[in-house]
Amino acid sequence: MNGKDLEERYALPIYPRRGVTIVRGEGALLWDDQGTEYLDCAAGVGVANIGHANPAVAAALAHQAESLITCPGIFFNDTRGRLMKKLVEVTPPGLERVFLCNSGTESTEAAIKFARKTTGRNGLVTAMRGFHGRTLGALSATFKYRDAFEPLLPNCSFVPLNNIDKLDAAIDDNTAAVILEPVQGEGGVRPANADYLAGARQLCDARGALLIIDEVQTGFCRTGAFFACQHHDLLPDMLCLAKGIAGGVPMGAVVCSARIDPGIGTHGSTFGGNPLACAAALAAIEFMQTQQLAEQARVRGDYFASQFNAHLPERVRDVRQIGLMIGIELKEKATPYLQALLNQGILALPAGPTVIRLLPPLVITEAQLDTVIEKLRLVLT
Ligand SMILES: Cc1ncc(COP(=O)(O)O)c(C=O)c1O
Repeated sequence: MNGKDLEERYALPIYPRRGVTIVRGEGALLWDDQGTEYLDCAAGVGVANIGHANPAVAAALAHQAESLITCPGIFFNDTRGRLMKKLVEVTPPGLERVFLCNSGTESTEAAIKFARKTTGRNGLVTAMRGFHGRTLGALSATFKYRDAFEPLLPNCSFVPLNNIDKLDAAIDDNTAAVILEPVQGEGGVRPANADYLAGARQLCDARGALLIIDEVQTGFCRTGAFFACQHHDLLPDMLCLAKGIAGGVPMGAVVCSARIDPGIGTHGSTFGGNPLACAAALAAIEFMQTQQLAEQARVRGDYFASQFNAHLPERVRDVRQIGLMIGIELKEKATPYLQALLNQGILALPAGPTVIRLLPPLVITEAQLDTVIEKLRLVLT
């Protein structure tokens, strides 16, 4: 049995599948088990920012694996300590302490618990179309995918993005935190505007609530800055991170301001901050810094938009582009076009029913982007 047959036989059927079996990657390219090459504009859903099979991460993993793979948080560890310092250095000022976990949803879970513990309140205010993860706490703060799993956490309210009056009305004496993505990813590649984010910061300060910014998808250079917060000089109380943090190795993090004080023994994770993932993350972040990946994402994203927008296919309603986070909103359903792109050797993602989302590795070249544009035109015209 090949990989497809084995997964079809043994995997719990949870994911809508695309039919191909991916076996190898390099930079922005992937290959299937038949040797067919694909230009990857999915990047493991916004994970492989530094490119697939990045040699620096592979070397760091091999090196770390030879000395120590696992070490729980009750012991100190050299690699973990260095990563925590690095995370504090690259994130916005005022964020001083790090909690490490293994995924984006875990970072949301931790942030919710830390907010409850720090404020003594339990309410959350989040955005319509927002996505913060699939576990029950994170799902409580997520707009979609929730109906089948009610009851979820109480006192979660949803407000329309970029409407400061609605946010103002939703924050009350029981609001522990406001949770926002600076650019909604799953919700359709929709940016929060600078005034709204600044207003959210002010409202939280005035009402004693915390501001949690979820940069699981926008983080690590995706939007043309190391973090999307930095486009707006936004200073969150907690920054949720995952996806691109460790070059594809599972890791999540919450980077916290000095206000956050959950207390010893209130949270934990067996694998969180294991030295192997920490070594990968250190190598990945150093790669981002030495390659000036944020600048590269900005330049390449602007290049894409200038070329693609010059002759927009009829079916396109809108293009939203922030660095290499790109949403192409169609006038009709996106799914058939995702399949057509796959047939043309381009892997892309949906973001809601009518949006094609492109999250390529940030190392994608201009020539590769030209190919993406050519194929998009071909299938959308
Ligand atoms: C903004 C945001 N938060 C949280 C998550 C959940 O991350 P994970 O799938 O690693 O649990 C995602 C995943 O797409 C995300 O985009």
